[in-house]
Amino acid sequence: MRERKPFVGGNWKMNTNRTTSADLTRGVVDALAPVTGAETAIFPPFPYLLAVRSILRDRGSSIRLGAQDCYHKPDGAFTGEVSLDMLKDCGVEIVLAGHSERRHVIGENDEIVNTKLKAIVDAGLTAVLCIGETLDQRESGHTDPVNQRQLRAGLADVSADAMERVIIAYEPVWAIGTGKTATPEDAQDVHGKLRKLLGQVYNADVARRTRIIYGGSVKGANAEELFRQPDIDGGLIGGASLKAPEFAQIVKGAAASAKA
Ligand code: 13P
Repeated sequence: MRERKPFVGGNWKMNTNRTTSADLTRGVVDALAPVTGAETAIFPPFPYLLAVRSILRDRGSSIRLGAQDCYHKPDGAFTGEVSLDMLKDCGVEIVLAGHSERRHVIGENDEIVNTKLKAIVDAGLTAVLCIGETLDQRESGHTDPVNQRQLRAGLADVSADAMERVIIAYEPVWAIGTGKTATPEDAQDVHGKLRKLLGQVYNADVARRTRIIYGGSVKGANAEELFRQPDIDGGLIGGASLKAPEFAQIVKGAAASAKA
């Protein structure tokens, strides 16, 4: 039995509408009702957070509510942005920082990601720090330095105590939404190195306790094999989190891996 409770997050990205976000929430709650042994969160688009929260509350669900992004400043003149106070007010407990689409499509750099991550943990919420190499970086042999740089930079000035509220998500960019998954062995290799780095940057305790989850074309069919790797503590799921039965199968795979 492993000591880190697996975590599975459903990142809905810019998908769903008012009707389908509610239907999906109900579907996930029903499908996961009998599942314990894995911590689960869903990350709907901002406009649907409150409606999703009402459903989770009405059903007495333990699924946690997450947000896909935030702005690091307190409420003020920042047109178009969403503060952490607003997210907390909507019942959000977990926030993503540095998702690859925010890095590579929207243009966030390590410094912005670090600023957001610090604001999230300072607000008392849990942050999921997303890191991962592109295909070019992998093919040119830069997988380890890229991930190590993103981990160190993302966690700059984050204390060992605050690491209780940080989850690391390794999401190789070439595996996101492509149907290509890292092999369990390749993913384990990166996760093991990241855990070792946490030990160097912090200490053995932080390295042992911090959950490092995998993202990139995780499906019901490949989840359990990935999550059974010793340093893979669950997953961050995109496409497959939009189908309740598939997402439930992934969470079940995580729960089963915890007992291994
Ligand atoms: P896919 O599961 O669609 O590859 O997306 C992964 C991801 O980006 C989760 O944050």
